[in-house]
Amino acid sequence: MDFLASVLLSLALSAALALLFVRFTRRGGLQRLLPPGSLGLPLIGETLQLIAAYKTENPEPFIDERVRRHGPVFTTHVFGEPTVFSADPETNRFILQNEGKLFEVSYPGSISNLLGRHSLLLMKGGLHKRMHSLTMSFNSTTIIRDHLLVDIDRLIRLNLRSWSGRVLLMEAAKKITFELTMKQLMSFDPGEWTESLRKEYLLVIEGFFTVPLPLFSATYRRAIRARTKVAEALGKMVRRRRREQEEGTVMNDMLGALLAGDDRFMDEEIVDFLVALLVAGYETTSTIMTLAVKFLTETPLALAQLKEEHETIGARKGPSEGLEWTDYKSMPFTQCVVNETLRIANIISGVFRRAMTDIPIKGYVIPKGWKVFASFRAVHLDPDHFKDARTFNPWRWQNNSGSTTSGNVYTPFGGGPRLCPGYELGRVILSVFLHRLVTRFSWVPAEEDKLVFFPTTRTQKRYPIILKQREDSAWQ
Ligand code: HEM
Repeated sequence: MDFLASVLLSLALSAALALLFVRFTRRGGLQRLLPPGSLGLPLIGETLQLIAAYKTENPEPFIDERVRRHGPVFTTHVFGEPTVFSADPETNRFILQNEGKLFEVSYPGSISNLLGRHSLLLMKGGLHKRMHSLTMSFNSTTIIRDHLLVDIDRLIRLNLRSWSGRVLLMEAAKKITFELTMKQLMSFDPGEWTESLRKEYLLVIEGFFTVPLPLFSATYRRAIRARTKVAEALGKMVRRRRREQEEGTVMNDMLGALLAGDDRFMDEEIVDFLVALLVAGYETTSTIMTLAVKFLTETPLALAQLKEEHETIGARKGPSEGLEWTDYKSMPFTQCVVNETLRIANIISGVFRRAMTDIPIKGYVIPKGWKVFASFRAVHLDPDHFKDARTFNPWRWQNNSGSTTSGNVYTPFGGGPRLCPGYELGRVILSVFLHRLVTRFSWVPAEEDKLVFFPTTRTQKRYPIILKQREDSAWQ
């Protein structure tokens, strides 16, 4: 209810501005050059159709129908603004690569307010470039191999040890990813402090999909209060670590790197940066963990092949031995499963940008200030690029790039200057999780659960499963 009221209010508030804008472009003759499409109803455009489609298991018709009528680059009007949608890989690449030059990142007000203005996700220009590269370096293959892998494996095992009977997989996976991120960012092991921070943090995330007006949305008010508490707790931690670092205790984690750098960041900047990293890795990785299990459960042949791969790895290790990089590197079928889960789930279904100037594209013009949505999902599920595109088929990745066309049409982690810094980390976490899960447990779904895609990709019931420990499970 709260969400729907929020969406409608947001539409009403921004519609007047959008209409003025469209009128202006019509007068100026730009409409002739706009990508074809429909702006839908006055005020709400085609928002309700989009929401209705994405709340089902099969949101594809929303884009499919428009692509059929208008082609892969079309105009629509959603969430209060005229928006150009791209279902075309070349256009998507152009949008991603021209970040900061022709297009700039654009998040709804609720998300930017709750992230904080110094968040990496909102940064632009030179500072973004520097911070993006620092974040990449902290998630590099070398760091994962030499430092993070041990903690990933240890924390996943610690969590799985307490799993028995009925488990809400999505919730359990979220707990794991939060704990992993806290460890990576500030060397914290799970405990009371991290758990109480996680509870506040969940309230912050709930506020992302509301209208950022405290008077109208109780969820948003709660999220703002929780954001203040999270900032206070992290701020205290940053101050303590700054003191310790000045006294000579340097920790080898992301916070340590931020405190030690030449940039001399203020506490508030560091806190916003930490919040952004917690947000970016949390929902995405835990959702991919859940959906990989769901797709495997529904594809028994793939699950059997995956088990075999992990049993072979398990057989050469002692019961309490941790996974090593060479183990991760000997999981070729798991990597096919990871690729295919990312392709078919499309947790980030695409990215919103804003045109910084009038931009000619494919014979049309995207007017300055307009929203653009590069849909990764539309390309990943396009039968022109992937055979039987809407079927989960990990084997498609065995001998080639998965797609039937040349060129890079697979972008689950985006691309260009905002390429996801966690692209390798996410893959490693999922692979280690699958290893520990299939070698310790067998499971069945506790009840039927459906995938939906709005406001985020998730299963309706958080994917409840019933677990049974395998009799031959050796690890402790
Ligand atoms: C497997 C799950 C993941 C998926 C599917 C995913 C996907 C993406 C995508 C598509 C973007 C690009 C957004 C844009 O262009 O606006 C992105 C950005 C980002 N991701 Fe991930 N991500 C995942 C995991 C992670 C993890 C584990 C981290 C933790 C380090 C992370 C950190 C980030 C950050 C900080 C950004 C913002 C980069 C920027 O704006 O410069 N992600 N992610």
